[in-house]
Amino acid sequence: MTTQSNALVTGGSRGLGLALCKQLAQEGFKVWMACRDTAAGRSLAQRLPGEVAVVEMDVTVPDSVKKALQVVALADDKLDLLINNAGIYPSGDEYPQTQPESLLMDTLAVNVGGAHSVIQAAFPWLQLGQNPAVVNVSSGYGSLALNAVQHMDALCYCTSKAALNMLSLQWSRVLTPLGIHICMPSPGWMRTSMGRADGKSPEQGAAIVLEAARLCRQGRLNKAYIGENGPIPW
Ligand SMILES: NC(=O)c1ccc[n+]([C@@H]2O[C@H](COP(=O)([O-])OP(=O)(O)OC[C@H]3O[C@@H](n4cnc5c(N)ncnc54)[C@H](OP(=O)(O)O)[C@@H]3O)[C@@H](O)[C@H]2O)c1
Repeated sequence: MTTQSNALVTGGSRGLGLALCKQLAQEGFKVWMACRDTAAGRSLAQRLPGEVAVVEMDVTVPDSVKKALQVVALADDKLDLLINNAGIYPSGDEYPQTQPESLLMDTLAVNVGGAHSVIQAAFPWLQLGQNPAVVNVSSGYGSLALNAVQHMDALCYCTSKAALNMLSLQWSRVLTPLGIHICMPSPGWMRTSMGRADGKSPEQGAAIVLEAARLCRQGRLNKAYIGENGPIPW
């Protein structure tokens, strides 16, 4: 078993995921960039500093998730940090009256089901990790409290991130007694293809997520729904 800390980032080949891979590699982690297009992933990984390995993963396909974790386990025998970053914000989400019926289920499949499948497949290897942690990238849009006072116009996305928060709390019931901490940081608006032009850079978003990850691995943060300005109301 390697003593170097390792981390798996889903949706690692662009946006926040790519920035997370880069910063983790700079910090000395061995990084597993999980992505759907491995050819594109490899060419990006070559340009990153440090050790970045690419593994194929579609988070909505359980066999793909299991195979990816087998690759990680075969090489490393453990997982120290899992970042469930892959996510979608479907177009047309502000118009629930007209959006296709499948849109909600498709969004839940990636943003909630995907995170669940990856945690399940990673579970045996997280138990062997050093100060292991699970980071589920959430969003202020998942806040029931904030939506109750000011609706955010994204039915599928908001529903999925609220569900991701609950999924995280449910997993914490199993993970916490084993010393595996979990948190749900929101990077806030970023300039990614999901985000908006006046948002922060993906690198700034990654720094917020990785600060939460660091505190989580130190056992100073658990079950936390947190943004750049501190806890987000549930
Ligand atoms: N952007 C924001 O302002 C913002 C704000 C708060 C929270 N977040 C959260 O931050 C995370 C990353 O967002 P982003 O802005 O970086 O979005 P992005 O640029 O759209 O990237 C999304 C990533 O998810 C991957 N992905 C989508 N479906 C997948 C699937 N079925 N299997 C595996 N990977 C899949 C994409 O891979 P492909 O390249 O293969 O499509 C891509 O790497 C998301 O969880 C998002 O909800 C974003």
